[in-house]
Formats: sequence, C-alpha cells, structure tokens
Amino acid sequence: MKLFDSFGRHIYYLRISVTDRCNLRCIYCMPPEGVPWIPHDEILSYEEISTIVQLAAELGFTKIRLTGGEPLVRKDIVELVSMLWQTRGIEELSLTTNGTLLKEHAFELRKAGLKRVNISLDTLRTERYRYVTRLGSLQDVLDGIEAARSAGLSPRINTVVMRGINDDEVLDFARLTYQGWNVRFIELMPFTKVAEFVPAEGLRQQIESLGSLEPCSISDSGPAEYYRLSGARGTIGFITPVSKPVCSCCNRMRLTSDGQFRSCLLSDAGIDLKSAMRNNASPQEIKQLILEAVASKPEKHHLLEGVYPKRKMSQIGG
Ligand code: 5AD
Ligand code: SF4
Repeated sequence: MKLFDSFGRHIYYLRISVTDRCNLRCIYCMPPEGVPWIPHDEILSYEEISTIVQLAAELGFTKIRLTGGEPLVRKDIVELVSMLWQTRGIEELSLTTNGTLLKEHAFELRKAGLKRVNISLDTLRTERYRYVTRLGSLQDVLDGIEAARSAGLSPRINTVVMRGINDDEVLDFARLTYQGWNVRFIELMPFTKVAEFVPAEGLRQQIESLGSLEPCSISDSGPAEYYRLSGARGTIGFITPVSKPVCSCCNRMRLTSDGQFRSCLLSDAGIDLKSAMRNNASPQEIKQLILEAVASKPEKHHLLEGVYPKRKMSQIGG
C-alpha cells in the first residue's frame, strides 16, 4: 500500500522521538538549565511504539528513524531497535544521535538491525565543542564516530553552521570527506537568537576553493543536496530549511515521545495517539487517526514568517 497526503506527496518515513531527555544542552536547542522533562508515565512504552510502527507499516510506512532528545539515553534502546526491525514492512531503520554514548552501543545496535546513524557534530575543536554543547566532550563523539564506522553503521555527520561560532570550520569539515567522512551542513533555523544562519550557497562557494564540487545523486536523499569534491571518498550535503525549503518533496511524519503524531517539524498540530491507545482504541481506530494526521499535513512551513513550534527541537526530534 502506498500512502499519499492531500498534496500528492508519497508519505513513507516516520521519525520517532524516543525521549525528550538529553545529556547535552546545545546552545541552539536548549536553555542552560534544560527544559522540564516529560514524566516517565507520559512517555510511550516500547510496546506502544512498536504497536504504532506495526500499524503505520500496514499503512505503507517503510522507513523509520529514531531521534530524541538523545535516543541513546533511553534505557534498553537496543531492545526497541530489535523490536522495530522485526516489524513486517519496515525496510530501513536508522538513528540520529549526538554520538557521545555511541562507543558503548554501536555494535549491539548494528546487530539488532540498525542500518545507519547520523551524528550531530558542529565543531572539531575541544573547547568550542564544550561551548556549543555546554556539557559534552569532543573525544567521546570522535570515539563514537569511529565505533560506528567499525560496526558498519555508515555514520553521516550533521553540522549546524552558525555565523561567528563555527563557520570558520567549514573547510575543515569538508576536507574530512577526503578521508571518507560524509558531512552534511545544516542551516540554523532561527528559533533562538544564538547566531545567524549561513546560507548554504555561501558554503558551497567557500568549499569550491578546495576543488570542484560535483553533484552526486543519492537515492532517497531526503531534504539534502549532495556533492563530492573530486578525489574525495565521502560526500558533502547541504540542508537548506531557511534559504531553500524543500517541503514539496517531504515524505515524513513524526511521533513525539509522548505519543503525538505530527505532520510537520515546524507545526504544533498533532494527533494524540497515546490517549487513544490508553483508552483502548482498536487497531483500526489508530490507523484511522494516522490517516487523518497524514491528510492534515500542511503544504509548507512558515518559518520565514516567524511561525515557530512551541516545543523545543529536543521535544520534537529535530
Ligand atoms: N536549526 C537547525 N537544526 C537544528 N537542530 C536542532 N535545532 C536546530 C536549529 N535551530 C537539529 C540539529 C541537531 C539535531 C538534534 O537537531 O541537526 O544536530
Ligand atoms: Fe541534545 Fe541534540 Fe538538543 Fe544538542 S541538539 S541538546 S544533542 S537534543
């Protein structure tokens, strides 16, 4: 079965935030004191997540990504990976992490069925990493990236570029693609006033000082555009939520850790699947709610008009 929204977009990708908690406090994501955590009993259990994934798969979802907060701070996350990977119809299972806890988990995650990881890393400098994440240690992430590579998790690095904070490291990141790293530069979305975003076009021109950037086609590339420096093994991607939104190609829905089914990262609209399930809704009724959420998916976001979601990115899943 193939699922389409009311604008004819094929919807098959579900991003699941498994927790709103995080062991870091990135400056663009959280205030220094953090945000009040959602109480445990408000968070979907692994059984509940698994049920939703089964029903979503029956409706045509084939691709799952686990996000957070930081997904690896949730207890027994490997067990969830294993449960989801056994779901009929799920063809791809991946995870987005800050990488700090990956060293301990990479091999078991791979064994449980995880295909790949995206790792958030905004700087390669020790002091600066501490400034940007407030709590993290760069070496933990570098170890995590190495562990992911050895485990066969094909890590891909996500770098949010902030003017005056880490935009002087764009070439350092780009050069790492000669060693096989895959790096994606993400435009900073303006929810907080930490810094200005840097348009991807400017980064592209800067990177071309290293050599020509050849476009490369990657199947199911999502919102990113990919290039390769000649002679490099790894790729460089650009994600442009600010300068060039790609809503017309959006294929995704989201499940928050407290069980809201949302149709857009940047909209507060959502359907409360947790309450429905805890009030004994039938599988058929849950499926109907999922279909309603898909049908209500907005055509595009209104970030540039200053319409932001009320929740923090850590509570939606980035
Ligand atoms: N702009 C762009 N990306 C963001 N993320 C969180 N906040 C923002 C923002 N304001 C994304 C980053 C981070 C992931 C967890 O969420 O990619 O690595
Ligand atoms: Fe945690 Fe990611 Fe937010 Fe940083 S950006 S505080 S790693 S959820």
